[in-house]
Amino acid sequence: MTETLSRRSFLGAAAAAPLVGHTVDRTGFPAPAVIIPGAARFAAVASSNGLRGVAKAMELMTRGVDTLDAAVEGVKIQELDPEDTSVGYGGLPNEEGVVQLDASCMHGPSKRAGAVACLEGIKTPSEVARLVLKYTNHILLVGAGAKRFALSFGFREEDLLTSKSREIWLRWRANRGKEDDWVDVGEQEPIGPRPTGTINLNTINDRGDLSSVTTTSGLAFKIPGRSGDSPIVGAGQYTDNAVGSAGSTGLGEANIMACGGFLTVEYMRQGMSPTDAGLAALKRVVSLTPPRLLDPSGRPRYQLNFYAVNKRGDVGGASLFPSDYAAHDGRDATVRDTAYLFPK
Ligand code: GLY
Repeated sequence: MTETLSRRSFLGAAAAAPLVGHTVDRTGFPAPAVIIPGAARFAAVASSNGLRGVAKAMELMTRGVDTLDAAVEGVKIQELDPEDTSVGYGGLPNEEGVVQLDASCMHGPSKRAGAVACLEGIKTPSEVARLVLKYTNHILLVGAGAKRFALSFGFREEDLLTSKSREIWLRWRANRGKEDDWVDVGEQEPIGPRPTGTINLNTINDRGDLSSVTTTSGLAFKIPGRSGDSPIVGAGQYTDNAVGSAGSTGLGEANIMACGGFLTVEYMRQGMSPTDAGLAALKRVVSLTPPRLLDPSGRPRYQLNFYAVNKRGDVGGASLFPSDYAAHDGRDATVRDTAYLFPK
């Protein structure tokens, strides 16, 4: 290829994607195809259980609070809510009745990440993940070590099982096998699919600084020690301050295979809108799904959602099956329909 031709195709690509350009930070390495800074506006996007969270995050960011601190304060509303059985305090336990929590976060401007997995006895794993990010050279602490780390920062150890989550666990335990030694209860009410509730929240301020956080009690009644996608940086959430943030809720095992948070951000880097980037990542997830998790027509037997914001403050939500998400565009917080791959 001649120099003229390659220059022409470069200019053509730039014309086709006017929102993207190149920046070089002090590492000297160019960040390819980033959305041109300068046009950013405040925004927050989350799973639909994050409606209060996006409102809180927006209120804090417009008062000058950092995007990661704002996102963590947003998700803490769910973590501390005993009525929310998918996150933090009151989250559904593992198969032994022990609540094990996962969380991770990324801070765009400082290019740092932190995470905890299988954390027991601490109501707000998002705060512990942020401490890993801020005060250590590590990214992921797990289990007993994560708890000791939290206690060393003054967190109080508490019983995270509420009477509501305990009742749900006892019913699941009684009904899980027809041939076991537990007497079935409440058989008239179907148990339904095991919940994988989670909250992901992504933020951007008017300087274009981005952050993301995801927190969960994980798959209900999981094998003790199981960790899903939420504490996996690049799967449960991801931020590149030059491009955008994205995160997920739904079946973590499916998402981990595709590194969905990272992939969604990479698709935004290529110029896709947040919604289109999420849909493209979902297509990749489906293509990597093992046959036992697909129905005879090739549709997934699970739900997965991505939420994303780009460097301009555009937000979007995408899911395998119809769902919704929470967003704040600087004016108000609303629940919106996701774009989806498969009708119900
Ligand atoms: N996405 C949450 C989990 O699978 O644990």
